[in-house]
Parts: sequence; C-alpha cells; structure tokens
Amino acid sequence: MPAPEQAVPFSTVLRTASSEEHAAAEQSPFMSRLLGGQLGIDAYADLTGQLWYVYRALEEQADALAGHPVAGPFIDRALLRTAAIERDLAHLRGPDWRTGLSPLPATSAYADRVAELAAEWPAGYVAHHYTRYLGDLSGGQIVRGIAERTWGFERKGDGVRFYVFEEVANPAALKREYRAKLDAAGVALDEVGRRRVVEECKRAFALNGAVFRALEARYPLSA
Ligand code: HEM
Repeated sequence: MPAPEQAVPFSTVLRTASSEEHAAAEQSPFMSRLLGGQLGIDAYADLTGQLWYVYRALEEQADALAGHPVAGPFIDRALLRTAAIERDLAHLRGPDWRTGLSPLPATSAYADRVAELAAEWPAGYVAHHYTRYLGDLSGGQIVRGIAERTWGFERKGDGVRFYVFEEVANPAALKREYRAKLDAAGVALDEVGRRRVVEECKRAFALNGAVFRALEARYPLSA
C-alpha cells in the first residue's frame, strides 16, 4: 500500500503547490503587458535574450544528466530550446545578436542556480525543468499567438521559434508522459526529497518573477 503522502500523484502535488506562484507570474506587470499586447519589441527581444542564458544552463548539462536515475528520464532532445532561441535572436537582434547581449543580475542568479543543481542535486534540477518546459508547452503557446499578432512574426516562424516544439508531434501526449515521469520521480524520492523538490519549484517561479520584475523596471510603461 502506498504511504499516505504518496496517495496524491507528485505531478498533482507540484501543480497544486505552485499554483499561486503560477498566478503571480502570469499576472506580473511584465507578463500582463506582454499578454495585453502592450510591450515594445525591444522588451520582447530582451526577454528572449535573457531566456537564452536560462536555457543554456538548463541544456548544457543535459547529456551529463541523461543517465541520472531521477533526472535522466526528463532529458529529451525534442524539448531542447537553445537553437530555437538563437534563431529568434538572430531575427530580433541581427546576426551579431551575441554582441552586447548580457544577463540581468536576476538572470545570472537564475542560471547559476540551475547550473548548481545540475551539478549537485539533479532532483532539484527537475523542478526547474518542469517549471520551464511544461510551462512553454502550455502557456507558452498563448504567448506565441500574442507575439505573432503584436509584432507580426510569421506564424511559428522566426521570432517565436522558442515556443514552437517542432519535434513534438503530440504536445498533449508529451504532457501526459511528462506528468507520469514526475509521478515516478515522486515515488523514487523520499518525503524529504519530495518536499525539497516542491520548494525548489517555488524557487524556480520566484527566479522567473525576479527576471520579469527587472525587465519591467527596464521597460516601464510610458505615461
Ligand atoms: C504568460 C503568462 C502565462 C500564461 C497565459 C500561462 C498559462 C498556462 C496555462 C493555460 C496552463 C495550463 C495548461 C494545461 O493544463 O495544459 C499553464 C501551465 C503551466 N505553466 Fe503557465 N502560463 C503563463 C506563464 C507561466 C510562467 C512564467 C511559468 C514559469 C516560468 C509557467 C509555468 C507553467 C507550468 C509549469 C505549467 C504546468 C502546470 C501543470 O500542469 O503541472 N507559466 N500555464
């Protein structure tokens, strides 16, 4: 018989535990303005550049993590975003997109945390993997549509490739499988491990929120 604390699937535990953080991220001034079509393309390009640092940290260690008992099952080449972000950045910032690109302090803190976990605590890395990739497969699709309409990018083309998972034929099926992997990770971890992963997930949302706040400060709504 499963222990009582395992009665709720871990995917549900994570979603429920982070729902307030999700609402806060979605309703943050920066995201609200993005969703309302009120951001300039420079702010969107900046967000894309900041995400490049985050995904580099998430993906640099992917091969090394592939054999890890907890994190390994989550490593999936079809999810990798770095190349797609680079195509978007070439479109948004030009071929020299790397020149002059620099991480905000909040972005560095986020990327550093991901890199630290990939090296030292792969189960904690899973919390970050979940927060970004499952979000990209979900709300990311709403953001894509708005970006296409607001700035006139070609549908699923340059500028929004980050949100297009070309190698994922069935996103709904992938999300179901992803949740099954989370549930299996929850069984593999003990209660303390599960609790720490939940806390790390909340931290992942907070790190995203800090990047949004810094971007909001950089691109204030003009009066
Ligand atoms: C732009 C604002 C956002 C909108 C409109 C949005 C919308 C959504 C929607 C509709 C879902 C549910 C999809 C489903 O059940 O299949 C979802 C799930 C999710 N979102 Fe967001 N989201 C936003 C921002 C974010 C951000 C900033 C993050 C984190 C960085 C995030 C992370 C997630 C995660 C992890 C899930 C999966 C929850 C689960 O089922 O376990 N979202 N989002």
